[in-house]
Amino acid sequence: MPRSSRAPASTWPRPAAGKTDPKTAPAPAPVGQRCYTAAAVGTLLEVKNLKTHFVTRSGVVRAVDDVSWDVSESETVALVGESGCGKSVSALSIMRLVAGPAGRIVGGQIRFKGRDLLRLSEEEMRHVRGREIGMIFQEPMTSLNPVLTIGRQLTEGLEIHLGLAPAEARRRATELLGMVGIPDPERRLRQYPHQFSGGMRQRMMIAMALSCSPSLILADEPTTALDVTIQAQILELMKDLSRRFGVAMLIITHNLGVVARYADRVNVMYAGRIIERGTARELYANPRHPYTLGLLRSVPRLDEPRRARLDPIEGQPPDLMRLPAGCAFTPRCGFSVERCRVEAPPLCEVNAGGHVSACWEADNLDRARTASRT
Ligand SMILES: Nc1ncnc2c1ncn2[C@@H]1O[C@H](COP(=O)(O)OP(=O)(O)OP(=O)(O)O)[C@@H](O)[C@H]1O
Ligand code: SF4
Ligand SMILES: [Mg+2]
Repeated sequence: MPRSSRAPASTWPRPAAGKTDPKTAPAPAPVGQRCYTAAAVGTLLEVKNLKTHFVTRSGVVRAVDDVSWDVSESETVALVGESGCGKSVSALSIMRLVAGPAGRIVGGQIRFKGRDLLRLSEEEMRHVRGREIGMIFQEPMTSLNPVLTIGRQLTEGLEIHLGLAPAEARRRATELLGMVGIPDPERRLRQYPHQFSGGMRQRMMIAMALSCSPSLILADEPTTALDVTIQAQILELMKDLSRRFGVAMLIITHNLGVVARYADRVNVMYAGRIIERGTARELYANPRHPYTLGLLRSVPRLDEPRRARLDPIEGQPPDLMRLPAGCAFTPRCGFSVERCRVEAPPLCEVNAGGHVSACWEADNLDRARTASRT
């Protein structure tokens, strides 16, 4: 969906840029209340030349290697790629939660609402986490506390970040559970995570991520562990809530099929780098990198008649400790030419609307595809 046609942002309650003192923060509006503001759609998060490396005994893993991308207010952006390409490390870098001492952000900037998160103190970062940026993980059981009730886990953040009194936090927690489609929320608040199904736990994670009305939610493979029907329900719920409350989202997934419906823009990542970026519509209609083409052929397409066969991408992703000198995709690429082996292609504009690709053959893919069909 084009960014300009998105629903206006809600003020449920929209935090001001910078640190907010919970004591002086405005009282939260009731869940579901909408306020149509003419807020300008500006850049909310800007990742610039980010490098996150892990120093191991066998060498340096360049998990995120000079990567730049951004998310605008109220926008849904996807980060897509195969396992091990650096998606989760990118999200953890934004939250400054990369596992040290092996893992370190060694370069770049992460600007959120104009502030460089890499320069904030740990206390300031604690405020950003949960209050300004919410996070939804792939497996909720790893981030939920098994010995605390669902209610306590929801009210804790509301009391700490928003300064709500216990009774008010409880009321709001009930609203939140109802809002994410959990029936009988009063009773469910008294239960423990193991009493929830997988889909309900993921709904609970969404409620937690939204609870302090952040401006951005990072959702790392939010539905991978769920069956297909529940996946679709959860994604629809996330899309609906992000629109209603004007929350921007970064959806991390290995499935390009998932993002077609839910993302405005897509960043395709390979071996620690962004290799293609564009609007979801443009990327689907006119992919300009062989890896993106491969990803599209390996998943069912909603906009094409059902194909009898899906084609997985042949070969293995490269070892991030020993990346080749030229294009990292060369050993798996059916379009490679001599230059690919020696010179790494930079991200270059291939079409209007910010469509960029890092491929020497980006302009020749159509010709080659047409030739292969005849
Ligand atoms: N603590 C660590 N020590 C060493 N290497 C690590 C560590 N954490 C991640 N890596 C490496 O960083 C690279 C990127 O990992 P990341 O978790 O971001 O992958 P991903 O794209 O999220 O994959 P998946 O789809 O499987 O979740 C991988 O090669 C991984 O092995
Ligand atoms: S630069 Fe060469 S090897 Fe890399 S994706 Fe393009 S054609 Fe393939
Ligand atoms: Mg991951």
